[in-house]
Amino acid sequence: MSLSQRYFAALMRLSDGAQERLYGERKAHLFEGLAPGRRVVEIGPGTGVNLPHLPADIRLAAVEPNPHMHPPLRRKAEACGVDATVHAGRAEALPLETASADAAISTLVLCSVDDVARALAEVRRVLRPGGRFYFIEHVAARAGTARRRAQRLVKPAWRRLADGCRPDQATGALIRQAGFAEVEIERFHAGGVLNPVRPHVAGVAAK
Ligand SMILES: C[S@@+](CC[C@H](N)C(=O)[O-])C[C@H]1O[C@@H](n2cnc3c(N)ncnc32)[C@H](O)[C@@H]1O
Repeated sequence: MSLSQRYFAALMRLSDGAQERLYGERKAHLFEGLAPGRRVVEIGPGTGVNLPHLPADIRLAAVEPNPHMHPPLRRKAEACGVDATVHAGRAEALPLETASADAAISTLVLCSVDDVARALAEVRRVLRPGGRFYFIEHVAARAGTARRRAQRLVKPAWRRLADGCRPDQATGALIRQAGFAEVEIERFHAGGVLNPVRPHVAGVAAK
């Protein structure tokens, strides 16, 4: 267990309220599509910020590599009444059977995943045919803009501070290229203008 993982888990716990203010309304709307009783896999759930937005009677497989996130994640799942199994795996090799999930979730995770194409292939593998992948991710600013240059400039320091997060990653394009049958993506801004991790994309991809 590295010190940076411990530090990042503490930071995530402290940022719960801010996250809710930035993304809460959008999550409530996005996750409306999750029907009760479903088998849902969440990659990189962190301390469980999404749990209050999920129907209580889903069965959640939470795949989170940072062990310092696990205790707050389990506590929050219990408080929200969500039947959650926490796995210490990574999105690139999901510890789940093929076609075993009705839905998958990812919020602000793919920026930190080492092999995004592989992680998305894994999400597709574990979804049943017709299953849906719900996501909110921050993405690279448009090429040639001052924001994109700033993202590149701060990236080395940002990656060290924020557990490997890459502010300039074209995650929306990677989701479109991942082989889903249908992809709906909306681009939006959240956070202050000086925040390097904006703009964002939110949407649903169907297998
Ligand atoms: C910025 S946090 C986001 C946490 C939470 N999803 C949220 O919306 O606040 C990124 C999370 O992704 C996790 N993560 C990093 N690499 C990962 C990987 N390869 N597979 C799954 N999760 C990963 C981190 O441990 C962390 O919990």
